[in-house]
Amino acid sequence: MYEGDIASVLLTEDQIQERVKSLAAEIAERYPVGSPQGDLLLVGVLKGAIFFMTDLSRALPIPTQMEFMAVSSYGSSTSSSGVVRILKDLDKDIAGRNVLIVEDIIDSGLTLSWLIRNLSSRNPGSLEVVTLLRKPDAVKTDVNVALIGFDIPNEFVVGYGLDYAERYRDLPYIGTLDPKIYSDDGDL
Ligand code: XMP
Ligand code: MG
Repeated sequence: MYEGDIASVLLTEDQIQERVKSLAAEIAERYPVGSPQGDLLLVGVLKGAIFFMTDLSRALPIPTQMEFMAVSSYGSSTSSSGVVRILKDLDKDIAGRNVLIVEDIIDSGLTLSWLIRNLSSRNPGSLEVVTLLRKPDAVKTDVNVALIGFDIPNEFVVGYGLDYAERYRDLPYIGTLDPKIYSDDGDL
């Protein structure tokens, strides 16, 4: 699939699946079963976090529930501006719940800091973030993320939910794109 489009594999399917399991173990320790806040509520950020969310939920040895949000940040397709619009909101009230935001990648951190402010205003019982990937620029933001899958170099990556122009999400690994793919439309 996508023969010749991927320049290098950054994280193999095995590496991702191993890390998902260890993150799940860390998360389970933080959320004791039978808490008065009820089951842990995973809030997946569409569409990039979809595979991470489903794999993580199945690796977690505690009961979880799922909600999804879709947001779009104004800006080019490969960088974000911090101005965020809700495309799809949560279906349920999260007041009093233990909420864990499940993100694909933190780059500038602008999207996530907006999301945290937005969800905090709904008075969850607790609010934390798990992200599969973090890029170097993320350290400049005030967003405090305790659970990180992998720190990666400052390169545009695709696969395992991450896309370029909606393609490559279905790859089971994470890789960098051959520059010939995006040199055509000059959007980087
Ligand atoms: P910020 O800068 O707000 O951006 O932290 C987070 C969002 O930007 C997208 N993003 C990427 N998407 N490959 C992608 O497919 C990448 O390398 C990449 N870097 C940032 C992504 O939507 C993320 O939620
Ligand atoms: Mg995203």
